[in-house]
Amino acid sequence: MVCLGNICRSPLAEGILHHKALKLGLGWEVDSAGTSGYHNGEAPHVLSQKIASLNGVDIALQRSRQFRAEDIDNFDHIYVMDSSNYQDVKKICGSRWNDKKVSLLLNESYPGENRNVPDPWYGTEKDYHLVYDMLDKACQQVIAKYSSPIINCTI
Ligand code: 4NP
Repeated sequence: MVCLGNICRSPLAEGILHHKALKLGLGWEVDSAGTSGYHNGEAPHVLSQKIASLNGVDIALQRSRQFRAEDIDNFDHIYVMDSSNYQDVKKICGSRWNDKKVSLLLNESYPGENRNVPDPWYGTEKDYHLVYDMLDKACQQVIAKYSSPIINCTI
């Protein structure tokens, strides 16, 4: 899960997907990173932590890191939050770029619409709730897509 700072959106996306996968015993490795490295080593934004916690998801121990080219080889899928993250990931990957592995997360819930997850960095608590709900819906689709076909209910 990739965004710009790896402190607002992608830590939530990592936490939500990891929580769902863990509950189902899927054994997935879920990670997140930022394209910028502006917040390397920092914990998620206090409002991301709060909204996650209200939904039963603990993201407090995550630490921000910058996306690196090797990530595209080490993970099966790279989900980006917006189109500028997509371009930045492409640039960082250089010759390792593989467009089959990288996609906009919201295309899982709104196929082909190329919607962005809005950046709540300058927003209010309400914006973090909206982002949480978007991410939760998209992660549920990811679970349905890549886990056993019998697991297709709301968790
Ligand atoms: P994120 O939000 O990409 O969802 O983590 C941001 C966090 C920090 C900054 C921008 C976006 N920043 O410019 O520091």
